Amino acid sequence: MAEVGEFLEARDLTRSFGGVHAVNSVSFSIAEGELHGLIGPNGAGKSTLFHLISGHFYPDRGSLVFDGHRVENKSPAARAKLGISITFQAVHLFDGMTVLENVMVGGHTWTKHEWIEASFRLPRCRREEQNIMEKAMWALTMVGLEQYKDHLAESLPLGRQRALQIARALCGMPKLLLLDEPASGLRGDERRELLSLLEKMHENALTMILIEHDVDFVTKVAERISVLDQGQVIAEGTPDEIRDDPAVISAYLGTAISHEVS
Ligand SMILES: Nc1ncnc2c1ncn2[C@@H]1O[C@H](COP(=O)(O)OP(=O)(O)O)[C@@H](O)[C@H]1O
Ligand SMILES: [Mg+2]
Repeated sequence: MAEVGEFLEARDLTRSFGGVHAVNSVSFSIAEGELHGLIGPNGAGKSTLFHLISGHFYPDRGSLVFDGHRVENKSPAARAKLGISITFQAVHLFDGMTVLENVMVGGHTWTKHEWIEASFRLPRCRREEQNIMEKAMWALTMVGLEQYKDHLAESLPLGRQRALQIARALCGMPKLLLLDEPASGLRGDERRELLSLLEKMHENALTMILIEHDVDFVTKVAERISVLDQGQVIAEGTPDEIRDDPAVISAYLGTAISHEVS
C-alpha cells in the first residue's frame, strides 16, 4: 500500500499504557535528509514515539508512512528491511565480542531459513558474511573506531560505546536513523565528538531523529525540532523558534534558555 507524501509522515499516532496516554494523537512529517530534534521532559513519550516508528510498539490508532510504505502495523524486522534503524537509550553490547563483531550483528537481517544455511556455512552465506564485514568496516570508519576493531567492546569508554552502537545501526545501511539520547552521560569532549559525527552523517544525507535532553546540544545540529509534553506535540519549528516559544519555556524548561549557540 504505497502513498505519496513526505519521507516520514505520522498522523494521529496514539499509544496508551493502562491509563497513561504515552503518545497522544501525534502528527508530524520529516523530509528526506533532515536532522530532526525531539525534546521534552522525562516521561513525555519520546522513547515510546521512537518505538512506534521502529515497530517495537504498535499504535492504538493512527498511521505512519515511511518512504512510500504504510508501516504502522509492520514488524520491527520488516521496518528494518525498509531502512528504519534505532539506537536504544541504554547501551546493549555483546560482552566477549570484539568491536567489529558487535557491529556485524547490525548487518544481519536474516530470515530463519537463511540463518540455518548460515550455520552450515554454505557459499552464498560466506559471500554474505564477507559483504557484512565490508559494511561493518565502512561503518566503523564512519564513526572513527576502525583502529579499535579487534578490541573487546566492553573495554571501550562510554563515548566510544555510543559510537559503536551508531556503527551497528549504520551497518544495516539505514535510510532513517532514530537516536535515543546518544549524548546522555557523555563528557564534554565525548559530546563534541558525537556532535561532529552527527554533522558528518547529516552531510552524508542520512535522515535522523535525535532525542536529546540538552537543548543547547540539539539546537546546534537539528534543522527542525519537535517538543513533546505529556504525549503531545506542543511546539514544532526551527531551533530559534523553539527557543523563543513561551509554551516550550514553561512546559519544558521552566527557566529561560541561553541564546548562545557556539
Ligand atoms: N512499556 C511500558 N509500559 C507501561 N508504561 C510505559 C511503558 N513505556 C513507557 N511507559 C510510560 O509512558 C510514558 C512515556 O514514557 P517514555 O516514552 O519512556 O518517555 P520519555 O522517553 O520521553 O522519557 C511514561 O509515563 C512511562 O511511564
Ligand atoms: Mg526516553
